[in-house]
Order: sequence, then structure tokens, then C-alpha cells
Amino acid sequence: MLTTTSPVLSDGTKVSDLIYPATREVQMRVLSDREIYELEMEKIFGKIWVLLGHESEIPNSGDFIVRDMGSDSVIAARGKEGEVFVSLNVCPHRGMRISTADCGNTQIHKCIYHGWAFRPNGDFIGSPIERECMHGKMTPKEELGLKKARVTLYGGLIFATWNVDGPSFEDFLGDAKWYYDMLFCRSDKGMEVLGPPQRFIVNANWKTAGEQSAADGFHTLTLHRWLGEVGNYAKKGEGEGEGTDLSPEMIGVEISSPHGHALRCIDLARKIKRLTGLDPATLSVEEKLNALPPAGMTRDMVEQLARNLSEDQLRVLTSMPPQVGGMFPNILFGFVYIPQPDGSVVGSMTLHAYVPQGPDKLEFVNWIFAEKDAPPELREKMLKQTIQLFGTSGMVEQDDSDTWPHMTQSAKGAMGRKSTLKYQACFETGAPEGWPGPGIVNEGFTKDDTQWHWWQYWHELMTASDEK
Ligand code: FES
Ligand code: FE
Repeated sequence: MLTTTSPVLSDGTKVSDLIYPATREVQMRVLSDREIYELEMEKIFGKIWVLLGHESEIPNSGDFIVRDMGSDSVIAARGKEGEVFVSLNVCPHRGMRISTADCGNTQIHKCIYHGWAFRPNGDFIGSPIERECMHGKMTPKEELGLKKARVTLYGGLIFATWNVDGPSFEDFLGDAKWYYDMLFCRSDKGMEVLGPPQRFIVNANWKTAGEQSAADGFHTLTLHRWLGEVGNYAKKGEGEGEGTDLSPEMIGVEISSPHGHALRCIDLARKIKRLTGLDPATLSVEEKLNALPPAGMTRDMVEQLARNLSEDQLRVLTSMPPQVGGMFPNILFGFVYIPQPDGSVVGSMTLHAYVPQGPDKLEFVNWIFAEKDAPPELREKMLKQTIQLFGTSGMVEQDDSDTWPHMTQSAKGAMGRKSTLKYQACFETGAPEGWPGPGIVNEGFTKDDTQWHWWQYWHELMTASDEK
């Protein structure tokens, strides 16, 4: 547990008073206030593990990508031995950006201003006119490198933190790791990106998208209502939930975490029944895997699962797998099944980061993945259909990214900023009988518990003492 203190905003409001635990409300001003935003850059993005990309974006020695880590630009680069390094993209000489490109390959990152040069690991090589010792004689060369972040790779995803002595990535994930492993660490070779990520700007505060990603299933009924009504997505003649507000997609198991992570596990029974005509309750794990391989896998690939996951994980993966959710603070994942006209499904594996660009601007970064050994025709289908559903012009994202700017604007109004966001549909229903997974587990219709836990962790970090 972190030691708490409470910063005070310039109007005298304590940050600790921005949320009301007794009534589960959050002051709406948090979605637009610049002072709060600046504190978030220090206390959240300056402290925790931040997603920057996937190692398959930089497969070769010298490859690099430039990404934002909170309010700072960083370079993620592949070293000679295959390691991945993350360094601050700021020249220690006079502050010029070292890399002005988005990506590339080099063994020498040379500043365009006065020519100081650095290795992919951030070490200082030297400056031009060596005989004049233009880097000076005061600070030793060993101390003139780029500032280095602590890095971890998880399922090939590149995470970094400035908190070099802080909690491990495993501690950060906590109990939620058991579920994320079913997505990111399930196969022998792992996954890779299908091209560079799509990136676009939305005029909204990053938290509008971040808190929604903490498994807000409720909005799917209204904002994405077409998902249950249109074309291949329409749920016709599929039994319980048909034509009612209690769509089967809304019923499941939600996992939330004291660290703000959240996952929605959705029942596969309806899909398996439709594909096989059989009652899923009578099928073994193997039979269910054969009927409906996990999103993004083929029948040939499912034997890998037993080598990488436990029996309990396999049981969940074949009956109630995590399909959508988030990782604190600004990541959304979707491992979903996209219905096809012939009644089959195509898996989609996507990850979004909502990268803060100011109190009312975020960059939406969308990675699309496939398993490394997925066949070419599956990869092509996954890429096309994921773009259609979740990409820049994706049908789902057009709905979501319509609401975020409105919420941000609402939080700027003289009255609006004094209103509250409410998370009062929290009923702690508990886990279904026999549920084998860890964490804070609630079953039934999607509720506000996951998002409330997201805000609680936001609050904990924002009021944490700076000493460790
Ligand atoms: Fe980079 Fe001077 S600012 S070399
Ligand atoms: Fe949505």
C-alpha cells in the first residue's frame, strides 16, 4: 500500500476530495482540468508501467520506434544482443529531440543540433570535434547518456517505467495476470503485429477512454446497439436474451483488480451451440476447442494451449474467456469473435492505447495482432475485419470516440465541471460456483464494479506520497 498525501489544486481543492467513496462519485472536472492532467503525468504515467508497443515492431538490431510515455517522447530500440531498451528522446546537451522520426534502424542515434551521438541502449558515444572535447570536461562521458527507463516484455508487449525501484510488472498485474496470460502468453511462438499501429487524434481527455476500457459493458446495449441487430451481428433465434435488453453478451463474469485492471469474460455457450448443434455442457475441453478455437487460433494450433496454460485456465478459455477489457490506466484489449455471413467466426486480436496529449486530447493507437504461426489467409482476414470493426474507421470505435469529446466538453462547463460521474451500480455479486480464477470476481449482468476499482486506483496513485 502506498503512503498517501494529498496535493492541493490552485483553487484550494484537495485531490483526495475529487472522488466520493461513500457514494461512488467522481467530480467531473477531472476530465478537463489542466492541473489534474499535469499531476497525472507525474503521479501516474511517471510512476507505473506504460505500454509502448510490441517487440515485433522492432525485430532487428538497431530497429527503433518513437512513442510517448506520458508527456515524454521515448525511443524503444533493439540492441545488438536482442534486448529492448527504452530511453528518453531528449538530448542531454541542450534538449533537442534525438529522433524526429517515428521509426527506423540505426546503431547510432545522432542529435541533429550539435551532433552528440548515442547507442540504441542510450549510452553516450561522443560528440563531434573530439580533440576539442566538445562534450565538456565536467560531466563524465558515462553520465552523458540518454535517461534510461526500466523495461519489461510481456507476451512481447513492451512496457516501461521511470520507477526503476518500484513494483515489478508481475506485481503491477497482480491476480489479473492469470487472465491476461490466456490472451498474450497462450501459444508457443507468441504473437506479432500485423503492420504498424493505426494512430489518430481524438479531442478528448484520456480518462474518458481509459475508464470505459475498464470493462464498461453497459454502454454496448445503447451506444453499440447495432452489434445485436445489424447483418451478421444480429442475434436471431439464439435463445435466452433474444430481443431483450439482457443480451447474452452482457451476462458473464467480470474481473476487477485493486490496480484498476479489468476483464469481461463472456459465455461461449451460445456460439458453440450454434456451431455444433450440441449442448456445450456435454462437451469436453478438447471438443470445445475443436468446435471454437480461441480468437485468432486455428484447430491446428490449439494443442499449444496445454503447454502454456493450466487446466483451470483452459477450462475458462473454452467456456467463459476474457474477450474485452483493459489494463490500467489507458489500454483496451479485444480478443473477440467476428460473425461471418456463413455462420462461422473470425477471431480478432486488438489492443488500443489512449495516449494522453493534453487535458483534452488523446492519441488513439491501435495494434492488430496475429499469432506468429497463424496461416496467411487467417492473418489477412483478421487484419481486414479488425480494421473494419476496431480501427481508425472502425464501426465500434466511431461510436465510442463520438462520446469521449462530448464528455470532455461537458467537464469544461461552469456547471458541468461541478457535476459528478456516478458508479453506483456496484452489487458485488461474487464469483460463480466453482470459478477457478483469482481476483475480484463478479458474475451476472455487467456492472460498475470494475470501473469503480479503476477510479480507486487512480485516486490511490494521485494521492500517493512521492517517497517510496
Ligand atoms: Fe543535442 Fe546539442 S542539443 S547535440
Ligand atoms: Fe465501446
